[in-house]
Amino acid sequence: MGSSRKIEIQFSSGDTFREIFQGSAEGIIMVNRDGKILLANPVSERMFGYAEGQLVGLPMETLIPERYRAGHVHHRHDFNENPSPRRMGMGRDLMAIRKNGTEFPVEVSLSYKEINGQFLVVAFVIDITERKKSDEALRRSEEQLLIYAAELEKKVQTRTEALNQSIKELEKEIEVRKKAEYEAHKSLEKERELNELKSKFVSIASHEFRTPLSTVLSSASLIHQYKEKGHLDKLDKHINRIKSSVNHLTGILNDFLSLGKLEEGKVDMLPEPVLLSHFFHDIQDELKLSLKEKQTIELVIHGEEVPVYSDPRVLRNVFFNLISNASKYSGEGKKIQINIQFAANQVRIDIVDEGIGIPDSEIKHIFERFFRATNATNIQGSGLGLNIVKRYIELLNGDIRFTSEEEKGSTFSITLPIS
Ligand SMILES: Nc1ncnc2c1ncn2[C@@H]1O[C@H](COP(=O)(O)OP(=O)(O)OP(=O)(O)O)[C@@H](O)[C@H]1O
Ligand SMILES: [Mg+2]
Repeated sequence: MGSSRKIEIQFSSGDTFREIFQGSAEGIIMVNRDGKILLANPVSERMFGYAEGQLVGLPMETLIPERYRAGHVHHRHDFNENPSPRRMGMGRDLMAIRKNGTEFPVEVSLSYKEINGQFLVVAFVIDITERKKSDEALRRSEEQLLIYAAELEKKVQTRTEALNQSIKELEKEIEVRKKAEYEAHKSLEKERELNELKSKFVSIASHEFRTPLSTVLSSASLIHQYKEKGHLDKLDKHINRIKSSVNHLTGILNDFLSLGKLEEGKVDMLPEPVLLSHFFHDIQDELKLSLKEKQTIELVIHGEEVPVYSDPRVLRNVFFNLISNASKYSGEGKKIQINIQFAANQVRIDIVDEGIGIPDSEIKHIFERFFRATNATNIQGSGLGLNIVKRYIELLNGDIRFTSEEEKGSTFSITLPIS
C-alpha cells in the first residue's frame, strides 16, 4: 500500500488543514464509500499500532474486532445512505482492535465530506482505555464506599444494640441496688428503732422497778419487825403491798414482752368464742386488789349477749391496760364504768372514767410509744400500754377511739367484730 501522500485527496487550503490533521490529539481516519481507508493521521496509526502509511488501503473493518465486523458493514451502509455528523455507538461501548490483535475501547465521532466528487466519511477516534480505567476505578471506589458505609451502619447498629443492652442491664442493676439499699435502710431503721427501744426499756425499767422494789423491801423489813414485836394485825397490809408491787412489776414486764412480740410480728391470733360478761367479771376480780381506795368498777351490758369470736389472751391484755389506766388516772372513790353494747355483727365496749383526762393539745400523741401526757408525770407509767393496745386491736380487726376532757374524765371505745 502507498502512503497518504499517494491518494488523490488534496487539502484544498494547503498546509493549515494538513497541520490540523497531522497534529490532532484525536485519531482521524478518512474512509471512502466502500469502507476503504484513504487517510489516517499519525495519532490513529500509533493508536492502532501501525507504521506510518500502513493503514491506507485497508478496509475500515480491519480496525474492528471480528465479532462486530458484520454489524459494522451494515451500519456503514446506513451512514452512507443518510449521512449526518454523529457519535457512533451511543449508549454502548465500542471496541477496536490493534494490529497485534489486542482490543481497546474507543469513542468515535463520524462526519462526512465530498471532496472532488468523492464521498468521504471522516471518523474521529479516541482511545478511552484510561478513561474507562478511571471510570472503573471510580465505580469500584464508589462501590467500596457503599460497602464501607453499609458495614459502618451495621457496626453502629450492633454497637447501639449492645449499648442499649448494657444500659438496660445497668438500669436493672441500679434497680436491684436501689432495692437492696432500701431493704438495708429499712432493716437498719428497724434495728435502730429496736436499739432505741432496748435502751429506753433499760432506763424506764430501772426507773419503774425502783419504786415497787423499794416498797417490797420496806414492807418485807416491816413484816420482820412487826413479827418480832408481835403486831401480827399489821402483817396483812404489808403482804398486800408486796403483792400489788409484784403485780405492777409483772405488768411492766408483760408490756415489754408484748411489745417485743409485736415488733417481731410473732403474735398469733387464737380466736375462740368469748362471753364478755364472764370475761369482764374475771378482770374485775383480778383488778379489785389494785384499785385505789373506794374505786369501783361497774359493768353494764346493753342488748342480747352473744359470744364474741376473739383471742381471750389478747383481749385480756387490752382491757387490763385500759381499766388499769382508768384506775391509775382517777382519784380515790371514783367510778369506772364498762359499757358493753351488742349490735348486729359487732360489739362496742366503752371504758368510762372520771379521772384527770388528757389535755387537748396532747390527744393526738396518746397512742405513740413512750408518750405520757404532761398532767400524768407524777403517776407511774412507761407510756407503752396504749401503743400495745392499739396494735392488738388492729390485729383483732377492731377499732379504738377515745374522748377526754381534762379534770372531767375519759372514755375509751373499742369496737370488735363478733365473728
Ligand atoms: N384513762 C386515762 N385518763 C387520763 N389519761 C390517760 C388515760 N389513759 C392514758 N392516759 C394518758 O396516756 C398516756 C399513755 O398511756 P399508756 O397506757 O400508753 O402509758 P402509761 O399508762 O403512762 O404507762 P403503761 O401503761 O405503759 O404502764 C398516759 O401516760 C396518760 O398521760
Ligand atoms: Mg397505761
